Amino acid sequence: MSLLSFFKNKKTQTTSVLPLEVDIHSHLIPGIDDGIESVEQGLDILREMVDLGYKKVITTPHTMMEAYPNTPETINSGLAVMKAAIAEAQIPIEIEAATEYFLDESFIERLDNDEPLMTFGDNYVLFETSFMNAPPFLKEATFKMTVKGYKPVYAHPERYIYLLEDDALLEEMVDRSLYFQLNLVSLSGCYSKPVQKFSEKLIDKELVSFVGTDCHNMGHIDYLKRSMQSKYFKKVLDLNLLNNTLL
Ligand SMILES: [Fe+2]
Repeated sequence: MSLLSFFKNKKTQTTSVLPLEVDIHSHLIPGIDDGIESVEQGLDILREMVDLGYKKVITTPHTMMEAYPNTPETINSGLAVMKAAIAEAQIPIEIEAATEYFLDESFIERLDNDEPLMTFGDNYVLFETSFMNAPPFLKEATFKMTVKGYKPVYAHPERYIYLLEDDALLEEMVDRSLYFQLNLVSLSGCYSKPVQKFSEKLIDKELVSFVGTDCHNMGHIDYLKRSMQSKYFKKVLDLNLLNNTLL
């Protein structure tokens, strides 16, 4: 059964269950970035995700030199706390952690110094950039990651104004074989109408390899449910998404 027909079969039910089993983008380790602030908040969100059909969450706190200087140690110790709480609360979901690297100077230094990056699945690395201006080292960073054998995953490309306005750059990023990760909540219009429209364009061009919730708090779950009503939500699920290969 295709993902689309699965969804169609489910949509008459009052509670929709997604055919997505793995989420690869969220901020569900308390107190280390702008995501959840307490373990309890995380558990409430994870219960909702179980109800939606998720079986595994690869959570990705920010690593950003100035605002959130996380390390594998800060992330993994928070992960251990969440794992224990999930087991205690008997929530049937698996949790792993990677990170969402912001492309700043420290990221380039990390690559140049051969410091291992936090990856998930088959050597995937999630990265983000500033929203307004493309960082001068976007091409350098993605090239270096690829040369070192990583598979760069471009977090929420639909949110970058510089990309929305620059078809040539979009084509170049596609040619670099980046894996585009769309935020499902973008389809609800929660960021802006242009972001929603750009999401739809990326889906129409079949450029999306992964989808993510980018869940920071319960508000994102509400937006996710709103997005589920969009026809592009059904459309993106019918692409050859890689999420479920990571179960
Ligand atoms: Fe994020």
